[in-house]
Amino acid sequence: MSGIVGYVGNRSSQEILIHGLKNLEYRGYDSAGIAVSNEKTIEVRREKGQIQDLEASLQLDPILKGNLGIGHTRWASHGTPSVTNSHPLSDTNGKYFVVHNGIIENYRELRKGLVADGVDFQTDTDTEVIPHLLAKYDTGNYLDTVRQVLPLLKGSFALAIMCSTYPNTIIAISQENPLIVGFGLKEGFLASDISALLPYTKEIYPIKNNEIAMLTSERITIETLDGEPIHPKKVLIEWDQEEIDLHEYDYFMLKEIMEQPKTIKKTLEGKIKNSHVRIAELEPLLNQYEFHHFEKIDIVGNGTSYHSGMVGKKVMEQLFRIPVEVHISSEFSNEHGHLSNRNLVIVLSQSGETADSLSALKEAKRNDCVTIAITNKKRSNIARIADYMLLTNAGPELAVAATKAYTSQITSLILLTIFLSQHSDKTNAYDYTELLDALVQLPDVVEQTLIMTQDAIDSFAQVTNDQDHLFLIGRGLDYVLALEGALKLQEVAYLHADAYAAGEVKHGTMALITPGVPVIALATQAHLRGKLVSNIRELKTREAFVVGVTTVGDDAVGEVVDQVLYIPEAHPYLMPIVAAIPLQLLAYYAGTVRGYNVDRPRNLAKSLTVE
Ligand code: G6P
Repeated sequence: MSGIVGYVGNRSSQEILIHGLKNLEYRGYDSAGIAVSNEKTIEVRREKGQIQDLEASLQLDPILKGNLGIGHTRWASHGTPSVTNSHPLSDTNGKYFVVHNGIIENYRELRKGLVADGVDFQTDTDTEVIPHLLAKYDTGNYLDTVRQVLPLLKGSFALAIMCSTYPNTIIAISQENPLIVGFGLKEGFLASDISALLPYTKEIYPIKNNEIAMLTSERITIETLDGEPIHPKKVLIEWDQEEIDLHEYDYFMLKEIMEQPKTIKKTLEGKIKNSHVRIAELEPLLNQYEFHHFEKIDIVGNGTSYHSGMVGKKVMEQLFRIPVEVHISSEFSNEHGHLSNRNLVIVLSQSGETADSLSALKEAKRNDCVTIAITNKKRSNIARIADYMLLTNAGPELAVAATKAYTSQITSLILLTIFLSQHSDKTNAYDYTELLDALVQLPDVVEQTLIMTQDAIDSFAQVTNDQDHLFLIGRGLDYVLALEGALKLQEVAYLHADAYAAGEVKHGTMALITPGVPVIALATQAHLRGKLVSNIRELKTREAFVVGVTTVGDDAVGEVVDQVLYIPEAHPYLMPIVAAIPLQLLAYYAGTVRGYNVDRPRNLAKSLTVE
């Protein structure tokens, strides 16, 4: 969601800000704006819609040229998407300019107080209290003023601030909401995430809670809120510009789907040796706790991460002799059963910044649980706060709808399952050799699946163009897969797609089945196929149009469906990965055939940093 950029140096800030904002577009937004300073005056331009709209407005009616500035893409949370509500926002006299990500939870009280003081609010945002508070508590010293105001703000927020009396300085804060400083030669950068910094610098410092960063072209200084200087330990970005380029693809979503053989290989890299799983970063966990210490495993996540968690649960509970529960993060953070140091809580989050998952993690920590983050972002808040971290290594995922993150998360969960069972007596007797061999083969199997299914799915998507509803059914792991397939179709094709456990359809949903209604029946779990075929027959009796997805060599499903799509057979636990490929492709082609921007679906954001 919302994105922040900042620049100070000797180049024209406008170009760098716009370019940076474009690299943050994937996060999702509905308006954009910049503030530029020429060290005398500050000028602001904001537009509703895309960054191209902002660019067009700047071309038509240019603002001043300057070497310092801040920029923002806003994903509306408080107040509709509009020019008025977009950032940067300023106080009544136009002294302080603020861009903000996150939520000021106590903004209503703050606003009430300011209104009582006579402040005339221009927007419906929570952000607007900040410039007004800066004006109210102005000491004449920029940094001091910011220090006065920060303790008044409650919530999680990242801020970049400009001040007309200090037109050569940007102040930046990152309170439970990411903001990264980038170091250049006599220049400084700010961005919500590293994709905006890649073209300019590889040296970064993620600002931490209770720190204030000050950026001028001469230096970047970091202090604690109490004024203690911090010597920022610069870190090097591992991702390359090349990884965030589209190359020959029209959309990141397709690029990321096609990358999966490579990304799964990266997830597995160095983890399987001599028929054993080794996860170096988790060795300390088992040095501290024997696996039998844990009485329960809880997995939490949102959206696609929740679905990979469901796969993890189904696999773990077949192999471990302790209960495994999976939770939607926003539910877990508010209500859960008894928790203690005997719960192992696994938080799944591609971005490592999803506010609901962050809250769930904090709740788990408050209750003394032992926590592992499975994330794609090494320096994210979730990675930092969890006791242990397992990196998925899928590389930057820029399409809003998660694809390669999902398959890498499941791969990681299966690695983790094997790793834990190697150290446990609370497991069912299970020979991992076959599963380990299958994991090693998995990148090739996924490659083969892409080749086998891409054209067939493209044509199927063309014929679904006039459909408004679609059902997906499956049993066991196929049911979880159906949920993920439905989510993808909702996200990028705006298709009303619903997933059901196949046996459950007759208990209600059958009333919605009329002739021609498309149903995708997932049949990758050989041991559940017999019952699934009966469920398909029930649907066919009501003349649904059923497309079966099954593995090469199975004839039973082909006989009862209208159309069948064959995919390669892998270990049953890995089928949610293999069979996800045609479903991801279906969502992609169904979205593009309808003319949608599949990378940036309406109203959605890549990383939701508000609860
Ligand atoms: C948003 C995204 C989804 C994603 C979910 C969880 O809703 O649009 O694609 O699955 O957040 O994100 P996370 O980064 O925590 O995995």
